[in-house]
Amino acid sequence: MANDSFFRKKSIQQVLNTDATGESHGLSKVLGVRDLTSLGIAAIIGAGIFSTIGRASFDGGPAVSLLFVFTAIACVFTALSYAQFASTVPVSGSAYTYAYVSFGELFAWIIGWALILEYAVSNMVVAISWSEYFSSMLAGFGLHLPGWLTVDPSSASEAVRASAPSIGGIKLICDLPAGLITVLVTALVYIGIKESKNVSNMLVALKLAVILLVIVAGVFYVKPENWSPFAPNGVSGVLSGVAAVFFAFIGFDSISTTAEECKNPQQDMPKAMIYCLIICTVLYVLITLILTGMVHYKELNVDDPLAYVFHKVGFDFVAGVISVSAVIAITSALLVYQLGQPRIWMTMSRDGLLWPKFSKVHPKYHTPSFATIVTGVVVAIPSMFFDMGFFVDLTSVGTFFAFILVCCGVLYLDYQGLTKYSKFRVPYINGQFVVGIGFVIAIAFAIYSNHFVLAMEEKPLLFVFWIVWAILSVLSYRLKFSLLPVLGILTNLYLMTELGFWNWGAFVAWLLIGLVIYFSYGRKHSKLAKA
Ligand code: ALA
Repeated sequence: MANDSFFRKKSIQQVLNTDATGESHGLSKVLGVRDLTSLGIAAIIGAGIFSTIGRASFDGGPAVSLLFVFTAIACVFTALSYAQFASTVPVSGSAYTYAYVSFGELFAWIIGWALILEYAVSNMVVAISWSEYFSSMLAGFGLHLPGWLTVDPSSASEAVRASAPSIGGIKLICDLPAGLITVLVTALVYIGIKESKNVSNMLVALKLAVILLVIVAGVFYVKPENWSPFAPNGVSGVLSGVAAVFFAFIGFDSISTTAEECKNPQQDMPKAMIYCLIICTVLYVLITLILTGMVHYKELNVDDPLAYVFHKVGFDFVAGVISVSAVIAITSALLVYQLGQPRIWMTMSRDGLLWPKFSKVHPKYHTPSFATIVTGVVVAIPSMFFDMGFFVDLTSVGTFFAFILVCCGVLYLDYQGLTKYSKFRVPYINGQFVVGIGFVIAIAFAIYSNHFVLAMEEKPLLFVFWIVWAILSVLSYRLKFSLLPVLGILTNLYLMTELGFWNWGAFVAWLLIGLVIYFSYGRKHSKLAKA
């Protein structure tokens, strides 16, 4: 009998059986803890720390280092939730599969659709950023590409426009290196996970070495007086960097998309996620302190802040090394997302929500070949023709949304008593009273300090945050919710409210497009519907 419910669900047993009966379709199981940690670091450290940190520091001053800590805490709560799910349903789909077993097919689709923002759309940012560093690296060697081949049409200056050739009256302006690097990385991902793993491990070792060099060399140039004032533009200045700082952390969750290619996913995934998050947080905080200690924060409004500060103190050799390494670092981030996106599509296709071609595995290379090619095209073309700012915000809002749902999913697993399938569990701290008491104290403080009214006027989206906290207080009291996933929901939601109406609007528009596709294809072809 067909199951027509919007919330038709897969059971965990169903997902595990599918995996055990070989629907992994021949993917190679080659990844261990070290590889996974390395893949995580490859995904996390990229355009964010090499580029967007500059503007965040310019707006918020040295106190942005605290924003990194706060954001990392939100990510740790989320990572624990991801780890529990990855140890419960170790298959490729990541948050998509987790939503399928927790909230049903409609939410699973919505999450899968939101994950495209995290993987494919963020990779457009990464590719554009790669191109910027690549051009400046070439310039360091005295080589200059024509301006019209290194910029998107909307960002091109009048001079670049004038120099560009025309085809049929249309000026030929595009960011060619962004497109080419995407094609090259896609080709690597296409030919095999093993090759990708080896390249990724190598790139990460190099990247970490260079970041440590920046920290060790930079420490000698820090002038503590640059750290004062610590938060020159107050809390709002610091928080205006949320999208950029969060963007820098995105990626630890991408490890979960390779679950079917892990030797021992239940044990290795949780460890790897926490390891890479800790390593990156320490590095980010140190780098922010070094940057804002080496020069005055007002100087950091640049695209290449790490190289810039060393030029500024006259240490040109290190500045050169950083420019070259940024190109390498960003390449490895690009690789991980190009690896993750096709695997999510593959899983959705296996479930019948996308066309069957998306789950086709290449007979020789054992990779999801068609989905990989589509990812390449989907990322390469926009990265050549659009500006990156829009993509950064859209990526962050979509990823916050996915993270919140994963934390909610863990509460659901607890509530349904499904944790018996979990080989790793988020450490349980009873939130029965704490969530509500925290709510009362926070709201009393906000009203007392007049912050409540002011904040509501400036950021009406905070209403959503307070309402969700109130609801969670009641539910925690009644159902003895685990505290850490609740904190994950609240911290992510609070940061999400900082992104403003416009970004939420763009995200809702994105979801509506996804729903049209779901109702015109996925809903009818879903395997669960036919089961
Ligand atoms: N965290 C990734 C980066 O910074 C997206 O490039």
